[in-house]
Amino acid sequence: MDSILVTGGKPLRGEIAIAGAKNAALTLMPATLLSDEPLTLTNTPRLSDIKTMTALLQSLGAEVSALADGKVMAMSSHGLNSTRADYEIVRKMRASNLVLGPLLAREGHAIVSLPGGCAIGARPMDIHIAAFEAMGATIDLKDGYLHATTQGGLKGGVVKLRFASVGATENVLMAATLAKGTTIIENAAREPEIVDLATCLRAMGAQIEGDGTSRIEIQGVDRLHGATHPVVTDRIELGTYMLAPVIAGGEVECLGGKLSLVESFVEKLTEAGITVEETDRGLKVRCDGGRPKAVNVTTEPFPGFPTDLQAQMMAMLCFADGTSVLEEKIFENRFMHAPELIRMGAKIDVHGGTATVHGVDKMKGAPVMATDLRASVSLILAGLAAEGETQVNRVYHLDRGYEHVEEKLGAVGAQIERIKGQ
Ligand code: EPZ
Repeated sequence: MDSILVTGGKPLRGEIAIAGAKNAALTLMPATLLSDEPLTLTNTPRLSDIKTMTALLQSLGAEVSALADGKVMAMSSHGLNSTRADYEIVRKMRASNLVLGPLLAREGHAIVSLPGGCAIGARPMDIHIAAFEAMGATIDLKDGYLHATTQGGLKGGVVKLRFASVGATENVLMAATLAKGTTIIENAAREPEIVDLATCLRAMGAQIEGDGTSRIEIQGVDRLHGATHPVVTDRIELGTYMLAPVIAGGEVECLGGKLSLVESFVEKLTEAGITVEETDRGLKVRCDGGRPKAVNVTTEPFPGFPTDLQAQMMAMLCFADGTSVLEEKIFENRFMHAPELIRMGAKIDVHGGTATVHGVDKMKGAPVMATDLRASVSLILAGLAAEGETQVNRVYHLDRGYEHVEEKLGAVGAQIERIKGQ
């Protein structure tokens, strides 16, 4: 297993190009199952999760080709030969469950493995199941698989989500495009990735209104045609790299960044005394006057503070002047980066979903363990300012969601390298 070695103390200067959003691409790719015509995505991120989704779609009989060094994904599912998403793939990536809606809509049946738990939580699927049952599907759980069928196709209806689940909103949105009649999703998630999916589906001929709000209305159509769609910028990668110059010092411009993608995150950076300037190329970030101030953060569904930036924010708050309180309201176990940061000298008290971070004026590099995708990058961020060397192990977690971290940070002055594992 590879690891990443960071030597702290180097201020950062320059530009970092932000890639297409992993969490948009992972819902846009299954959309190819909704049509027998080609769907092409551009600005696709080069990540291991994209490779996993590619393997899943190919296992169903879709043709998926990564072109232009992986930045273009050409897909076609004119002939499917399976509607079964196998445990071996789903257990590696929960987003595999996003084939459920499209398969139900296109084929009228699907067998999708339950994802099983992951490091950050149990990740149940009850909201997805309730939604599809409200659309006339029958879903039984047998030997760890959801067996979903519809008699005569999905029917439009009112689907009220008990929680604004991103994945459930995406699954229902895709399925509703081909359902009979009108579907209303109430308490829908409002993330930019939902809007990006709706934009792509409209390009394929779907009739959708209200995406980006908590009420989405979809008029079912008989079929969808092909399209070409650019994947939206990754707001989580954007937020991650915005924190790098705050922690390490210096100034970095994140190319492709837009304030509208990270408004609540930037509000917190501004409160911490950080300067964020929107340019015609992206977002320029620096922290004048040394240490950021301590701020309190609570994670919420969009447009609230993103849970996927909580670990990275904690790394920054370890160096802040004062005490910060971080509340994680979305996942039940998303503070596993805290013990690793403590190994580097951070002062963090975790009680349930609340972490209290007492800022310290220096941390020391240490060997640390990545436990999940966002935790792994928070350890690299901390390593940028810690004294000495930090070795982050198990970076396969990192490769799921970040393209060439060592190249992007190295290009702006970080002393960072990847050590190939056995
Ligand atoms: C998406 O996961 C993202 N993944 C996650 O990003 C992100 O953290 C999450 O949304 C919240 O923003 C992708 O888009 C591929 P949810 P998803 O359904 O759809 C509970 C990353 O780091 N829940 O909004 O799985 C669930 O357990 C990843 O890139 C149910 O209880 O998130 C969680 O506590 C991590 N029952 C909460 O809701 C359900 O049926 C939010 O889950 C579904 C969800």
